[in-house]
Amino acid sequence: MRSAELPLAAHRGAPTVLAMSADVGAKLFPLDRLERFAVDAPELELLQTSPLTSFDSDHARRLFASTEVLITGWGCPPIDDAVLDRAPHLRVIAHAGGSVKQHVDPAAWERGILVTTATAMNAEPVAEFTLAMILLAGKRTFELSQEFTESRRDVVADDRFPQMRNYGKRIGLVGASTIGRRVVELLRPFAFEVMVADPFLSDHDAARLGVIRSDLDELLASSDVISLHAPALPDTHHLLDRTRIESLRPGTTLINTARGWLIDHEALARRVERGDLYAILDVTEPDVLPAEHPFYSAPNVFLTPHIAGSLGTELARLADTAVDEARRAARGEELRFEIRGYDLARIA
Ligand SMILES: NC(=O)c1ccc[n+]([C@@H]2O[C@H](COP(=O)([O-])OP(=O)(O)OC[C@H]3O[C@@H](n4cnc5c(N)ncnc54)[C@H](O)[C@@H]3O)[C@@H](O)[C@H]2O)c1
Repeated sequence: MRSAELPLAAHRGAPTVLAMSADVGAKLFPLDRLERFAVDAPELELLQTSPLTSFDSDHARRLFASTEVLITGWGCPPIDDAVLDRAPHLRVIAHAGGSVKQHVDPAAWERGILVTTATAMNAEPVAEFTLAMILLAGKRTFELSQEFTESRRDVVADDRFPQMRNYGKRIGLVGASTIGRRVVELLRPFAFEVMVADPFLSDHDAARLGVIRSDLDELLASSDVISLHAPALPDTHHLLDRTRIESLRPGTTLINTARGWLIDHEALARRVERGDLYAILDVTEPDVLPAEHPFYSAPNVFLTPHIAGSLGTELARLADTAVDEARRAARGEELRFEIRGYDLARIA
């Protein structure tokens, strides 16, 4: 039986609607979760079990006349002034994903609607992926594996890479973001020095995090591994431009799990071609590069298809968080992950 046909319990809580693409809905709210919904979230009354994929139909208009809670996911249609006009009782938008900027219009904050997101939970797998990449890059794992499997002969790793390192090296994080801060925590057990560049990071905050606060240029020119965690904003386009990419020391590893937007890819391709820079790219611009792009064949580039964020079992954590936030709002409790309208200009 498809989710839309599941029987629903009688009204018990805040009228709630799911809104996201159908395939995202099937992953975030599979049948077993929908069947448990009334027990798991007694404060919420799910008006229908299948997610809305459009707000334009008469059916959506009827649902919106009483909706108080909207649980959104990737593929949710834009929630703008016109949509909000049709939802006079809407009190909270809880997003089971990361950024809300693509679908929640600033009008929501102007109307006093609470907006919350599972960004902090989506940060977890990205931070784990980053930690893994930092440690593997230190061992020059990708290059040595390739050399070994291609040559089928012993490779004296220490001769090839005398500067192999996971001890006493400097990790430079660009962006004290939700993900960046989680990476700082995950790096604590290791013998690294951690530097962070973020124009909004105060000395006090840096001291609390136990990191060295730095400007971007100093960080780029002095780190062994650089990991990008800044958002795509108008003034972060090609944050790593040609000059900055040239300033990276030979042997540096550059990790990008943030957005391709941050890097001048032409300049990076030129630098990578010289062979003295290592790049680990989970995101590029465009996300799938043209088939002939040099990154596909460069031995010093390790490409992954945008896998750092929540996938598979990790998606359940996003749904749990959004439902938990919606329940808090319905009980009149403080939200854990509320997004403030005044933060929109500096966050992802
Ligand atoms: N690869 C993936 O699957 C994946 C998943 C989730 C998020 N992301 C990306 O990761 C990045 C971080 O996301 P987040 O949710 O942790 O961000 P966030 O919204 O929590 O924080 C953004 C931070 O960037 C800082 N910042 C703004 N301008 C800056 C600049 N010029 N230089 C340095 N820092 C600056 C802000 O102070 C803020 O602390 C974003 O680009 C996001 O799109 C990727």
